[in-house]
Amino acid sequence: MEIDVFTLFPEAFEWFSEQRHVSNALEAGARLGYVNYRDHTPLSGGQVDDTPFGGGAGMVLRVDVVEAALRARYGVDPIELVGRRRVLALTPGGRVLDDAFVDELAAEPAITLLCGRYEGFDERIIERFATDRLSIGRYVLAGGELAAMVVCDAILRKLPGALGHADSAVEESFSAALEGAPEYPHYTRPADHRGWRVPEVLLSGHHAKIREWRREQSRLRLEQDLGSPGGRGSGDGRG
Ligand code: 6GU
Repeated sequence: MEIDVFTLFPEAFEWFSEQRHVSNALEAGARLGYVNYRDHTPLSGGQVDDTPFGGGAGMVLRVDVVEAALRARYGVDPIELVGRRRVLALTPGGRVLDDAFVDELAAEPAITLLCGRYEGFDERIIERFATDRLSIGRYVLAGGELAAMVVCDAILRKLPGALGHADSAVEESFSAALEGAPEYPHYTRPADHRGWRVPEVLLSGHHAKIREWRREQSRLRLEQDLGSPGGRGSGDGRG
């Protein structure tokens, strides 16, 4: 898996890149690269954005600037790039990220994430240079950087070698192994804290019973989630 993040703030990713599961994934062969739009702008003074035609607040990332950055990185006209590589524009109105979308992206050999800033992208960037629009939820962030980290984190931790234990990412919340349900509850020592006891079955050493109990807990949580306002019963998560 190769991920390129286009951003005005590559330094914002320093902490993220140092996380253990990220460095594990990179050591196992994944690649995570950053391109600063500003390094490739054809405009003077490092300009990358401009005021919106028609008026209004904020600044808009320019299409010529994004084109120059994509050309510099891939050496082709970016309208040809979309035929052979997943290029995702990070925007609050896009397709909402969920476990299935993460699996879809993790299965790609290479993806590109375009972070917007200020009021966002000139629409021609999305229309011409992107294959997808991706959102991490129905709220607005000041820029795509946090969203890009969310996407990278969710993808990289699924790759072989990222997590310590090979099964860690298989049977977890929202995974196919749990039929899309949230994960079961976890407990560790002490077995009794202020009289709050860990469920007896987990101390029993009876693996079949433990498995059965966990599936049941996971199902119960799914039912709760479906019944709650804003839970998965109240919308399909796509926009
Ligand atoms: Cl991808 N970008 C921004 N700016 N805000 C968001 C988002 C993305 N997803 C949810 N809110």
